[in-house]
Amino acid sequence: MSVTQLISRLPYEQATAASRRERIRWWRQSRFGMFVHLGLYSVLGRHEWAMATECIPMAEYEQLADRFQPQAGSARQWACLARRAGMKYMVFTAKHHEGYCLWDTRQTDYNSVQSGPKRDLVEEYIAACRAEGLKVGLYYSLMDWHHPDGGTCHYDPDARRRFLEFTRGCVGELMSNYGQIDILWYDVPKPLDTAEGWESYAMNQMVRSLQPHILINNRSHLPEDFGTPEGHVVAEKTQMDRGWEACMTFNGSSWGNMKGAEVDAWRTRDILKMLGTACNGRGNLLLNIGPTPDGAIPADAVAPLEAVGRWLERHGEAVYGSLDDAGAFPTYCGVVSRKDNIAYFWRNTWAGSEQGLGGYESPVKSVTCLTTGRPVEFTQKGYRILLTNLPNKCPDSEGGVTVFKLEFDSPPAWKWCPTTPAFVVGWD
Ligand code: GLC
Repeated sequence: MSVTQLISRLPYEQATAASRRERIRWWRQSRFGMFVHLGLYSVLGRHEWAMATECIPMAEYEQLADRFQPQAGSARQWACLARRAGMKYMVFTAKHHEGYCLWDTRQTDYNSVQSGPKRDLVEEYIAACRAEGLKVGLYYSLMDWHHPDGGTCHYDPDARRRFLEFTRGCVGELMSNYGQIDILWYDVPKPLDTAEGWESYAMNQMVRSLQPHILINNRSHLPEDFGTPEGHVVAEKTQMDRGWEACMTFNGSSWGNMKGAEVDAWRTRDILKMLGTACNGRGNLLLNIGPTPDGAIPADAVAPLEAVGRWLERHGEAVYGSLDDAGAFPTYCGVVSRKDNIAYFWRNTWAGSEQGLGGYESPVKSVTCLTTGRPVEFTQKGYRILLTNLPNKCPDSEGGVTVFKLEFDSPPAWKWCPTTPAFVVGWD
Protein backbone atom coordinates (compact mmCIF):
# COMPACT_ATOMS: atom_id res chain seq x y z
CA MET A 1 0.00 0.00 0.00
CA SER A 2 1.34 3.42 -0.92
CA VAL A 3 1.84 6.30 1.52
CA THR A 4 -0.82 8.30 -0.33
CA GLN A 5 -3.27 5.45 0.10
CA LEU A 6 -2.42 5.27 3.78
CA ILE A 7 -2.95 8.96 4.29
CA SER A 8 -6.20 8.99 2.36
CA ARG A 9 -7.56 6.36 4.75
CA LEU A 10 -6.82 8.31 7.88
CA PRO A 11 -9.97 10.48 8.11
CA TYR A 12 -12.11 7.33 7.69
CA GLU A 13 -10.13 5.37 10.28
CA GLN A 14 -10.28 8.23 12.74
CA ALA A 15 -13.98 8.86 12.28
CA THR A 16 -14.94 5.20 12.70
CA ALA A 17 -12.64 4.74 15.69
CA ALA A 18 -14.12 7.85 17.33
CA SER A 19 -17.69 6.65 17.01
CA ARG A 20 -16.92 2.97 17.73
CA ARG A 21 -17.21 3.13 21.50
CA GLU A 22 -20.79 4.29 21.24
CA ARG A 23 -21.76 2.14 18.29
CA ILE A 24 -20.39 -1.06 19.72
CA ARG A 25 -21.77 -0.72 23.25
CA TRP A 26 -25.02 -2.65 22.73
CA TRP A 27 -23.09 -5.46 21.04
CA ARG A 28 -20.52 -5.80 23.79
CA GLN A 29 -23.28 -5.82 26.36
CA SER A 30 -25.19 -8.49 24.46
CA ARG A 31 -22.48 -11.16 24.22
CA PHE A 32 -24.55 -13.81 22.58
CA GLY A 33 -26.04 -14.00 19.10
CA MET A 34 -27.45 -16.48 16.59
CA PHE A 35 -25.94 -17.10 13.16
CA VAL A 36 -28.28 -18.58 10.55
CA HIS A 37 -26.92 -20.26 7.43
CA LEU A 38 -29.57 -20.92 4.80
CA GLY A 39 -29.11 -21.32 1.07
CA LEU A 40 -29.44 -23.78 -1.78
CA TYR A 41 -26.78 -25.92 -0.09
CA SER A 42 -29.37 -26.57 2.64
CA VAL A 43 -31.23 -28.75 0.12
CA LEU A 44 -28.24 -31.06 -0.34
CA GLY A 45 -27.56 -31.17 3.39
CA ARG A 46 -23.94 -32.13 2.82
CA HIS A 47 -22.03 -28.91 3.54
CA GLU A 48 -22.38 -25.31 2.44
CA TRP A 49 -19.28 -25.68 0.28
CA ALA A 50 -20.69 -28.69 -1.63
CA MET A 51 -20.91 -26.82 -4.94
CA ALA A 52 -17.14 -26.29 -4.89
CA THR A 53 -15.92 -29.38 -3.08
CA GLU A 54 -18.07 -31.78 -5.11
CA CYS A 55 -17.54 -29.90 -8.39
CA ILE A 56 -21.27 -29.64 -9.03
CA PRO A 57 -21.88 -28.07 -12.46
CA MET A 58 -23.58 -24.69 -12.27
CA ALA A 59 -26.66 -25.71 -14.26
CA GLU A 60 -27.20 -28.71 -11.99
CA TYR A 61 -26.68 -26.68 -8.83
CA GLU A 62 -29.15 -24.00 -9.95
CA GLN A 63 -31.87 -26.68 -10.04
CA LEU A 64 -31.67 -26.93 -6.27
CA ALA A 65 -33.77 -23.76 -6.17
CA ASP A 66 -36.83 -25.86 -7.09
CA ARG A 67 -36.46 -27.78 -3.86
CA PHE A 68 -35.56 -24.78 -1.74
CA GLN A 69 -38.85 -23.96 -0.04
CA PRO A 70 -38.47 -22.26 3.35
CA GLN A 71 -41.95 -22.00 4.81
CA ALA A 72 -43.45 -18.63 5.61
CA GLY A 73 -43.03 -18.06 9.31
CA SER A 74 -39.76 -19.97 9.65
CA ALA A 75 -37.71 -16.83 10.26
CA ARG A 76 -40.00 -16.04 13.14
CA GLN A 77 -39.27 -19.45 14.63
CA TRP A 78 -35.51 -18.90 14.47
CA ALA A 79 -35.85 -15.48 16.05
CA CYS A 80 -38.18 -16.81 18.71
CA LEU A 81 -35.69 -19.55 19.60
CA ALA A 82 -32.84 -17.02 19.64
CA ARG A 83 -34.76 -14.84 22.08
CA ARG A 84 -35.65 -17.81 24.29
CA ALA A 85 -31.99 -18.88 24.27
CA GLY A 86 -31.00 -15.47 25.63
CA MET A 87 -29.42 -14.32 22.38
CA LYS A 88 -29.69 -10.62 21.65
CA TYR A 89 -28.95 -10.41 17.94
CA MET A 90 -28.89 -12.47 14.78
CA VAL A 91 -26.84 -12.66 11.61
CA PHE A 92 -28.42 -14.15 8.48
CA THR A 93 -26.72 -15.26 5.25
CA ALA A 94 -28.20 -12.89 2.66
CA LYS A 95 -25.81 -14.43 0.12
CA HIS A 96 -23.37 -17.24 0.69
CA HIS A 97 -20.49 -18.26 -1.58
CA GLU A 98 -22.88 -20.08 -3.94
CA GLY A 99 -24.16 -16.65 -5.06
CA TYR A 100 -27.90 -17.27 -4.58
CA CYS A 101 -29.40 -14.09 -3.12
CA LEU A 102 -32.11 -14.39 -0.52
CA TRP A 103 -33.60 -10.98 -1.18
CA ASP A 104 -35.37 -9.07 -3.92
CA THR A 105 -32.32 -7.87 -5.79
CA ARG A 106 -31.91 -6.12 -9.12
CA GLN A 107 -28.33 -7.28 -9.46
CA THR A 108 -29.12 -10.85 -10.54
CA ASP A 109 -32.09 -13.09 -11.29
CA TYR A 110 -30.48 -15.79 -9.18
CA ASN A 111 -32.53 -14.98 -6.12
CA SER A 112 -35.28 -16.26 -3.88
CA VAL A 113 -37.93 -13.98 -5.38
CA GLN A 114 -37.41 -15.20 -8.96
CA SER A 115 -37.08 -18.87 -8.02
CA GLY A 116 -37.37 -21.19 -5.04
CA PRO A 117 -39.85 -19.85 -2.48
CA LYS A 118 -40.51 -16.72 -4.58
CA ARG A 119 -40.26 -14.55 -1.49
CA ASP A 120 -37.86 -12.02 -0.01
CA LEU A 121 -36.34 -14.04 2.82
CA VAL A 122 -34.17 -11.17 4.06
CA GLU A 123 -37.26 -9.06 4.53
CA GLU A 124 -38.97 -11.85 6.48
CA TYR A 125 -35.89 -12.38 8.60
CA ILE A 126 -35.59 -8.71 9.48
CA ALA A 127 -39.27 -8.46 10.37
CA ALA A 128 -38.84 -11.53 12.62
CA CYS A 129 -35.83 -10.03 14.43
CA ARG A 130 -37.73 -6.85 15.07
CA ALA A 131 -40.80 -8.71 16.30
CA GLU A 132 -38.65 -10.62 18.81
CA GLY A 133 -36.68 -7.55 19.91
CA LEU A 134 -33.35 -8.69 18.40
CA LYS A 135 -30.75 -6.62 16.62
CA VAL A 136 -30.34 -7.33 12.92
CA GLY A 137 -27.18 -8.59 11.26
CA LEU A 138 -26.69 -9.45 7.60
CA TYR A 139 -23.98 -11.79 6.34
CA TYR A 140 -22.71 -11.20 2.83
CA SER A 141 -20.11 -13.38 1.13
CA LEU A 142 -17.85 -11.30 -1.09
CA MET A 143 -16.70 -14.48 -2.81
CA ASP A 144 -19.26 -15.55 -5.40
CA TRP A 145 -19.14 -18.81 -7.35
CA HIS A 146 -22.10 -17.98 -9.57
CA HIS A 147 -21.34 -14.52 -10.91
CA PRO A 148 -19.55 -14.79 -14.28
CA ASP A 149 -16.86 -12.37 -13.10
CA GLY A 150 -16.54 -13.85 -9.60
CA GLY A 151 -13.33 -15.71 -10.52
CA THR A 152 -11.93 -13.82 -13.49
CA CYS A 153 -12.01 -10.55 -11.56
CA HIS A 154 -8.76 -11.76 -10.08
CA TYR A 155 -6.80 -11.03 -13.28
CA ASP A 156 -9.15 -9.24 -15.69
CA PRO A 157 -9.62 -5.52 -14.89
CA ASP A 158 -12.92 -5.26 -16.80
CA ALA A 159 -14.31 -8.29 -14.98
CA ARG A 160 -13.17 -6.78 -11.72
CA ARG A 161 -14.94 -3.51 -12.48
CA ARG A 162 -18.17 -5.32 -13.30
CA PHE A 163 -17.92 -7.56 -10.26
CA LEU A 164 -17.29 -4.62 -7.94
CA GLU A 165 -20.34 -2.88 -9.35
CA PHE A 166 -22.39 -5.98 -8.70
CA THR A 167 -21.00 -6.28 -5.16
CA ARG A 168 -21.60 -2.64 -4.40
CA GLY A 169 -25.08 -2.92 -5.86
CA CYS A 170 -25.93 -5.89 -3.63
CA VAL A 171 -24.50 -4.35 -0.47
CA GLY A 172 -26.15 -1.01 -1.31
CA GLU A 173 -29.57 -2.67 -1.64
CA LEU A 174 -29.20 -4.51 1.66
CA MET A 175 -28.21 -1.28 3.37
CA SER A 176 -30.96 0.83 1.73
CA ASN A 177 -34.13 -1.23 1.48
CA TYR A 178 -34.81 -2.64 4.94
CA GLY A 179 -34.50 0.12 7.52
CA GLN A 180 -31.89 -0.04 10.23
CA ILE A 181 -29.29 -2.79 9.93
CA ASP A 182 -27.12 -3.25 12.99
CA ILE A 183 -24.31 -5.48 11.70
CA LEU A 184 -22.77 -6.09 8.30
CA TRP A 185 -20.95 -9.42 8.44
CA TYR A 186 -18.75 -9.84 5.36
CA ASP A 187 -17.21 -13.18 4.54
CA VAL A 188 -14.39 -14.58 2.39
CA PRO A 189 -12.86 -11.70 0.44
CA LYS A 190 -11.64 -13.93 -2.39
CA PRO A 191 -10.28 -13.90 -5.02
CA LEU A 192 -9.20 -10.28 -4.56
CA ASP A 193 -6.44 -10.19 -2.02
CA THR A 194 -6.52 -6.62 -0.75
CA ALA A 195 -8.84 -3.88 0.43
CA GLU A 196 -7.72 -1.92 -2.63
CA GLY A 197 -8.82 -4.78 -4.85
CA TRP A 198 -12.30 -4.78 -3.36
CA GLU A 199 -12.34 -0.99 -2.94
CA SER A 200 -13.42 -1.79 0.57
CA TYR A 201 -12.84 1.71 1.85
CA ALA A 202 -15.24 3.24 -0.61
CA MET A 203 -17.72 0.41 -0.08
CA ASN A 204 -17.69 0.65 3.69
CA GLN A 205 -17.92 4.42 3.54
CA MET A 206 -21.05 3.98 1.48
CA VAL A 207 -22.36 1.48 4.04
CA ARG A 208 -21.71 3.88 6.89
CA SER A 209 -23.33 6.78 5.08
CA LEU A 210 -26.49 4.67 4.69
CA GLN A 211 -26.31 3.06 8.16
CA PRO A 212 -24.42 5.37 10.54
CA HIS A 213 -24.85 3.08 13.56
CA ILE A 214 -23.75 -0.11 11.86
CA LEU A 215 -20.98 -2.43 13.04
CA ILE A 216 -18.84 -3.98 10.31
CA ASN A 217 -16.71 -7.08 10.81
CA ASN A 218 -13.13 -7.59 9.69
CA ARG A 219 -13.62 -9.71 6.58
CA SER A 220 -13.34 -7.11 3.81
CA HIS A 221 -9.55 -6.91 4.30
CA LEU A 222 -10.08 -4.07 6.75
CA PRO A 223 -10.08 -4.42 10.53
CA GLU A 224 -13.21 -2.29 10.99
CA ASP A 225 -15.18 -2.80 14.23
CA PHE A 226 -14.59 -6.36 15.40
CA GLY A 227 -12.61 -9.53 14.81
CA THR A 228 -14.15 -12.88 13.91
CA PRO A 229 -12.19 -15.89 15.16
CA GLU A 230 -13.81 -18.96 13.69
CA GLY A 231 -14.23 -22.47 15.04
CA HIS A 232 -12.63 -21.87 18.42
CA VAL A 233 -13.44 -19.76 21.47
CA VAL A 234 -10.29 -18.61 23.18
CA ALA A 235 -9.98 -15.70 25.59
CA GLU A 236 -6.82 -14.44 23.95
CA LYS A 237 -5.16 -11.55 25.63
CA THR A 238 -4.15 -10.02 22.33
CA GLN A 239 -7.69 -9.54 21.11
CA MET A 240 -9.31 -8.31 24.29
CA ASP A 241 -8.81 -4.62 23.59
CA ARG A 242 -10.80 -4.97 20.44
CA GLY A 243 -14.30 -6.28 19.94
CA TRP A 244 -14.18 -9.97 18.97
CA GLU A 245 -16.82 -12.52 18.27
CA ALA A 246 -16.14 -16.24 18.02
CA CYS A 247 -18.41 -17.82 15.42
CA MET A 248 -19.20 -21.49 15.89
CA THR A 249 -21.16 -24.11 13.99
CA PHE A 250 -23.56 -26.28 15.96
CA ASN A 251 -21.76 -29.52 15.19
CA GLY A 252 -18.15 -28.77 14.36
CA SER A 253 -18.79 -29.86 10.75
CA SER A 254 -20.85 -27.50 8.70
CA TRP A 255 -22.60 -24.14 8.81
CA GLY A 256 -25.33 -25.23 6.47
CA ASN A 257 -27.89 -27.90 7.31
CA MET A 258 -26.09 -31.23 7.38
CA LYS A 259 -27.91 -34.50 7.48
CA GLY A 260 -26.68 -36.74 10.25
CA ALA A 261 -24.68 -34.05 12.03
CA GLU A 262 -26.88 -34.26 15.13
CA VAL A 263 -24.55 -36.86 16.60
CA ASP A 264 -21.97 -34.13 17.03
CA ALA A 265 -24.34 -31.38 18.19
CA TRP A 266 -23.31 -29.27 21.14
CA ARG A 267 -24.80 -30.02 24.50
CA THR A 268 -26.04 -27.25 26.77
CA ARG A 269 -22.89 -27.64 28.78
CA ASP A 270 -20.63 -27.10 25.74
CA ILE A 271 -22.47 -23.93 24.85
CA LEU A 272 -22.22 -22.59 28.40
CA LYS A 273 -18.51 -23.28 28.47
CA MET A 274 -18.02 -21.41 25.20
CA LEU A 275 -20.10 -18.52 26.50
CA GLY A 276 -18.10 -18.43 29.73
CA THR A 277 -14.82 -18.27 27.82
CA ALA A 278 -16.16 -15.46 25.63
CA CYS A 279 -17.26 -13.49 28.71
CA ASN A 280 -13.93 -14.16 30.39
CA GLY A 281 -12.13 -12.65 27.40
CA ARG A 282 -14.59 -9.80 26.82
CA GLY A 283 -15.76 -11.30 23.56
CA ASN A 284 -19.01 -12.46 22.00
CA LEU A 285 -20.29 -15.84 20.90
CA LEU A 286 -22.16 -16.17 17.60
CA LEU A 287 -23.62 -19.64 17.52
CA ASN A 288 -24.97 -21.00 14.26
CA ILE A 289 -27.98 -23.00 13.24
CA GLY A 290 -28.41 -24.39 9.72
CA PRO A 291 -32.13 -24.72 9.00
CA THR A 292 -33.44 -27.43 6.67
CA PRO A 293 -34.55 -26.38 3.15
CA ASP A 294 -38.11 -25.90 4.42
CA GLY A 295 -36.76 -23.46 7.01
CA ALA A 296 -37.15 -25.71 10.04
CA ILE A 297 -34.70 -25.44 12.90
CA PRO A 298 -32.56 -28.57 13.21
CA ALA A 299 -34.11 -30.58 16.02
CA ASP A 300 -30.77 -31.09 17.77
CA ALA A 301 -30.42 -27.34 18.39
CA VAL A 302 -33.72 -26.71 20.12
CA ALA A 303 -33.37 -28.42 23.49
CA PRO A 304 -29.80 -27.25 24.23
CA LEU A 305 -30.60 -23.67 23.28
CA GLU A 306 -33.76 -23.61 25.35
CA ALA A 307 -31.77 -24.92 28.31
CA VAL A 308 -29.17 -22.19 27.80
CA GLY A 309 -32.02 -19.68 27.88
CA ARG A 310 -33.29 -21.08 31.19
CA TRP A 311 -29.74 -20.99 32.56
CA LEU A 312 -29.38 -17.36 31.51
CA GLU A 313 -32.53 -16.42 33.40
CA ARG A 314 -30.62 -17.19 36.59
CA HIS A 315 -27.08 -16.37 35.56
CA GLY A 316 -27.59 -13.60 32.98
CA GLU A 317 -25.96 -10.92 35.08
CA ALA A 318 -22.63 -12.74 34.66
CA VAL A 319 -23.03 -12.45 30.89
CA TYR A 320 -24.85 -9.28 29.86
CA GLY A 321 -23.98 -5.69 30.58
CA SER A 322 -20.83 -3.71 30.99
CA LEU A 323 -18.38 -6.51 31.53
CA ASP A 324 -16.00 -4.59 29.28
CA ASP A 325 -15.21 -1.68 31.44
CA ALA A 326 -14.05 -3.83 34.32
CA GLY A 327 -11.17 -5.41 32.43
CA ALA A 328 -10.63 -9.12 32.13
CA PHE A 329 -9.03 -11.61 34.42
CA PRO A 330 -6.41 -13.99 33.13
CA THR A 331 -7.97 -17.26 32.10
CA TYR A 332 -5.69 -19.37 34.26
CA CYS A 333 -7.43 -18.14 37.41
CA GLY A 334 -10.61 -19.87 36.24
CA VAL A 335 -13.44 -18.55 34.13
CA VAL A 336 -14.28 -15.18 35.57
CA SER A 337 -16.40 -12.42 34.11
CA ARG A 338 -16.29 -8.98 35.69
CA LYS A 339 -18.53 -6.01 36.13
CA ASP A 340 -18.04 -2.96 38.36
CA ASN A 341 -17.26 -4.23 41.89
CA ILE A 342 -18.19 -7.78 41.05
CA ALA A 343 -16.34 -10.88 39.91
CA TYR A 344 -18.39 -13.82 38.64
CA PHE A 345 -16.61 -17.13 39.04
CA TRP A 346 -17.91 -19.84 36.70
CA ARG A 347 -17.49 -23.31 38.11
CA ASN A 348 -17.68 -25.71 35.17
CA THR A 349 -16.72 -28.84 37.07
CA TRP A 350 -18.16 -29.62 40.43
CA ALA A 351 -15.21 -30.47 42.64
CA GLY A 352 -16.90 -30.94 45.98
CA SER A 353 -17.86 -28.80 48.93
CA GLU A 354 -14.97 -26.32 48.87
CA GLN A 355 -13.61 -23.98 46.26
CA GLY A 356 -10.53 -21.83 46.65
CA LEU A 357 -10.12 -18.63 44.67
CA GLY A 358 -6.61 -17.22 44.63
CA GLY A 359 -5.20 -13.83 43.74
CA TYR A 360 -7.87 -11.45 45.01
CA GLU A 361 -6.30 -8.61 46.94
CA SER A 362 -9.46 -6.69 47.83
CA PRO A 363 -11.65 -7.82 50.73
CA VAL A 364 -14.75 -9.60 49.54
CA LYS A 365 -18.04 -8.39 51.04
CA SER A 366 -20.36 -11.19 50.09
CA VAL A 367 -20.58 -14.30 47.94
CA THR A 368 -23.82 -15.51 46.36
CA CYS A 369 -24.47 -18.59 44.29
CA LEU A 370 -26.46 -17.36 41.27
CA THR A 371 -27.66 -20.87 40.58
CA THR A 372 -29.47 -21.21 43.91
CA GLY A 373 -29.80 -17.50 44.73
CA ARG A 374 -28.42 -18.29 48.20
CA PRO A 375 -25.49 -16.74 50.09
CA VAL A 376 -22.32 -18.81 50.27
CA GLU A 377 -20.10 -19.15 53.32
CA PHE A 378 -16.51 -18.11 52.83
CA THR A 379 -13.26 -17.15 54.54
CA GLN A 380 -10.61 -14.84 53.18
CA LYS A 381 -7.01 -14.92 54.20
CA GLY A 382 -4.24 -13.14 52.34
CA TYR A 383 -4.71 -13.81 48.66
CA ARG A 384 -7.03 -16.71 49.24
CA ILE A 385 -10.81 -16.79 49.32
CA LEU A 386 -12.25 -20.15 50.30
CA LEU A 387 -15.88 -20.95 49.59
CA THR A 388 -17.06 -23.50 52.11
CA ASN A 389 -20.03 -25.76 52.85
CA LEU A 390 -21.00 -25.99 49.20
CA PRO A 391 -23.44 -28.76 48.33
CA ASN A 392 -21.83 -32.03 47.34
CA LYS A 393 -23.71 -32.14 44.08
CA CYS A 394 -23.65 -29.42 41.42
CA PRO A 395 -26.79 -27.32 41.91
CA ASP A 396 -27.15 -26.50 38.20
CA SER A 397 -29.30 -29.03 36.38
CA GLU A 398 -29.22 -27.32 32.95
CA GLY A 399 -25.56 -27.77 32.05
CA GLY A 400 -23.59 -28.34 35.21
CA VAL A 401 -22.22 -24.81 35.21
CA THR A 402 -22.57 -22.79 38.40
CA VAL A 403 -21.70 -19.14 38.90
CA PHE A 404 -20.59 -17.54 42.18
CA LYS A 405 -20.98 -13.80 42.50
CA LEU A 406 -18.29 -12.13 44.60
CA GLU A 407 -18.96 -8.55 45.65
CA PHE A 408 -16.21 -6.14 46.65
CA ASP A 409 -16.12 -2.49 47.72
CA SER A 410 -14.30 -1.46 44.59
CA PRO A 411 -13.38 -3.18 41.31
CA PRO A 412 -11.39 -6.21 42.44
CA ALA A 413 -7.80 -6.46 41.37
CA TRP A 414 -6.29 -9.84 40.62
CA LYS A 415 -2.65 -10.79 40.72
CA TRP A 416 -0.51 -13.80 41.34
CA CYS A 417 -0.03 -14.50 44.99
CA PRO A 418 3.59 -13.44 45.71
CA THR A 419 4.53 -16.91 46.90
CA THR A 420 3.57 -18.76 43.71
CA PRO A 421 6.31 -19.73 41.29
CA ALA A 422 4.30 -18.21 38.46
CA PHE A 423 4.59 -14.83 40.11
CA VAL A 424 8.28 -15.29 40.61
CA VAL A 425 8.91 -16.07 36.95
CA GLY A 426 6.85 -13.04 35.97
CA TRP A 427 3.81 -14.43 34.13
CA ASP A 428 1.14 -11.88 33.48
C1 GLC B 1 -16.08 -19.67 6.47
C2 GLC B 1 -16.79 -20.57 5.50
C3 GLC B 1 -18.21 -20.27 5.35
C4 GLC B 1 -18.93 -19.82 6.59
C5 GLC B 1 -18.12 -18.84 7.37
C6 GLC B 1 -18.74 -18.45 8.68
O1 GLC B 1 -15.61 -18.53 5.90
O2 GLC B 1 -16.21 -20.50 4.22
O3 GLC B 1 -18.85 -21.33 4.77
O4 GLC B 1 -20.10 -19.23 6.20
O5 GLC B 1 -16.86 -19.33 7.58
O6 GLC B 1 -17.84 -17.78 9.47
